[in-house]
Amino acid sequence: MRLISWAIFPVAAFLVFDYLFYTWLPINYQFDKQLLAELSQEVINNHPDGNATAILIELAPKLKNAYPHLINDFNFEDWVYNNAGGAMGSMFILHASISEYLIFFGTAVGTEGHTGVHFADDYFTILTGEQSAAYPGALTPEIYYPGDQHHLPKGKYKQYAMPRGSFALELAQGWIPAMLPFGFLDTLTSTLDFQTFGRTAYFTGKDMIRNLLNGKF
Ligand SMILES: *[C@@H]1O[C@H](CO)[C@@H](O)[C@H](O)[C@H]1NC(C)=O
Repeated sequence: MRLISWAIFPVAAFLVFDYLFYTWLPINYQFDKQLLAELSQEVINNHPDGNATAILIELAPKLKNAYPHLINDFNFEDWVYNNAGGAMGSMFILHASISEYLIFFGTAVGTEGHTGVHFADDYFTILTGEQSAAYPGALTPEIYYPGDQHHLPKGKYKQYAMPRGSFALELAQGWIPAMLPFGFLDTLTSTLDFQTFGRTAYFTGKDMIRNLLNGKF
């Protein structure tokens, strides 16, 4: 009986956050997934050779131009590894707030794993290479190529893979703090790469606080 009455708290909290996800939270969204896809496509068209370096260098200022107060200046020093769901990639945080994040994510080496189950919608626009993904019962994968936007809806999950040299622009909209344990636990339980942990926490926390102070939830 005791256990059941305590179980009410997480269930009630979930219901409140779930209700807000569909009502109040979207009012805070600033990024337009359609515009992100259009800007990505423009830059991809300028680089038919699929040069990832050139694509990221050209796309980052366009993003900054579209969202001047929300996007961090792009560089190659502040990239961090991301280990999550058995997959490993690298990312650069363009924006992090409580309700959204925008990152470059990809891998020079190639990777495969679980998407995670998120309290957010995820829009993954391929810039170079490709991503394949499948639900458990799918015997052939969905395949996304440069310019395609893979939408993983809140609460859904897939297996995914990206061959070497694949990079994407990833927008997440939802309860971002609820996604962080997925992004961090592999580091704490497996890689023990505390430098990556510290840098990721620093870049994420700094941007979330900066945006909050600017009134961007
Ligand atoms: C890719 O683009 C970068 C930046 O423009 C350039 O320095 C590099 O030489 C290019 N690589 C190839 C293989 O063309």
